[in-house]
Amino acid sequence: MTKKVFPDNFFWGASTASHQVEGRTENQWSAWELENAQYFAKHAKSRLGEFDNWDKIKNQATNPANYVSGRGVDHYNRYKEDFDIAKKLNLTAFRFGIEWSRIEPEEGKWDAAEIDHYRNYIAELRKRDLEPFLNIWHWTMPTWFTDKGGFEKSGNLKCWDRFVSKLMDELGDDIKYVITINEPNVYATFSYLTGEWPPAATNPWSFFKVYINLVRAHKRAYSIIKKKNKKIQVGVAAQLANLQAKRPRNIVDVSVTQFMRYWWNWWFLNRIRKQQDFIGFNYYFTDYYKNFTKENPSAPLSDLNWYMEPEGLHPLLSRVWAHYKKPIIITENGLADSADLNRQWWIEETIVAMERALSEGIDIRGYFHWSLLDNFEWKYGWWPEFGLVQINRQNMVRTVRPSAKWYADKIAALRKGSQPTQDNT
Ligand code: BGC
Repeated sequence: MTKKVFPDNFFWGASTASHQVEGRTENQWSAWELENAQYFAKHAKSRLGEFDNWDKIKNQATNPANYVSGRGVDHYNRYKEDFDIAKKLNLTAFRFGIEWSRIEPEEGKWDAAEIDHYRNYIAELRKRDLEPFLNIWHWTMPTWFTDKGGFEKSGNLKCWDRFVSKLMDELGDDIKYVITINEPNVYATFSYLTGEWPPAATNPWSFFKVYINLVRAHKRAYSIIKKKNKKIQVGVAAQLANLQAKRPRNIVDVSVTQFMRYWWNWWFLNRIRKQQDFIGFNYYFTDYYKNFTKENPSAPLSDLNWYMEPEGLHPLLSRVWAHYKKPIIITENGLADSADLNRQWWIEETIVAMERALSEGIDIRGYFHWSLLDNFEWKYGWWPEFGLVQINRQNMVRTVRPSAKWYADKIAALRKGSQPTQDNT
């Protein structure tokens, strides 16, 4: 046996988000889905017709039901079963979202039964030795909050403060890790700049206000949480990409890449530099810039037509470490792969990338695969399947995918301290 590369207390986790799995949520997203499902189905071909797998997805993509989260994957009722599966997969941690609209369905009115639901939820994780990573906000909000302008109005941050305080009062003794906000850059961009997500704004000024208010929201949450309990470790789940110049000696490609690294990766994290105990980030994308646009290799592609370069995690880890010198947690990472053709390869390359980084002294504390379960993929709906576990939404039966079985064995081997993963490249 060789020396272990991953520390004993490394978190092997999976991530989920309330709206994407729970079912029967009533928030600004579920309202938007009902308003737009027909339209999305009707225009699916013009949006997705270019995808390599259009023939495979077209039945689902042209069906309005695809765009409605509805019963979700009934995780709200089946969470114990799902945690049993996570445990069988040898996971040691679990990231989940709190659904604000359940806890505070009307402004200032708390739903005690829903708070108890999450209290039991956390207790069930603990029973199985799965460390709970509580995510406060993963894009969904009660409609009373969005009706008032949501995060566009700084005055609304008092509602956020009240919500965070309530969560801490009720659940703060049961948790050690909190992620405040998921992917502020993605949310602000899609909801306020490109108009692809509710409230479908295309207004740079609104975008900017929201982005700044999310910085403030994080900072305020940080101080509320620390006042409650200094020991709770707090971070965000930033969306960071491994951005590279297509032509490494071309001045335009290099400058654009440098700018995009600053703007997409560091802008938000720099502003909360002092208010985070770990750097949490989601990694999905390696993008190459040629002149002013992205020009990625044409293969391999995931079901969402995203270019896949899992090993791009390594250069990204190096840069994150160089910038912040703080413990790192990979809060999401994965791919849409309904046939489970590439998932094992993706995870294996990811583990190699983390091993390289760890052996260089980069302090990585955990890895959370996205996702444990197939789930509702926002504007694309149900056809993209990110789960280690496949779900039949007719009968809600869960089936562990072959790649997940491989991953479970791999975790067991790494925890025992066997050979480092072979890099076959
Ligand atoms: C989000 C998830 C999403 C995943 C795959 C991340 O950007 O946090 O909610 O499902 O990517 O697109």
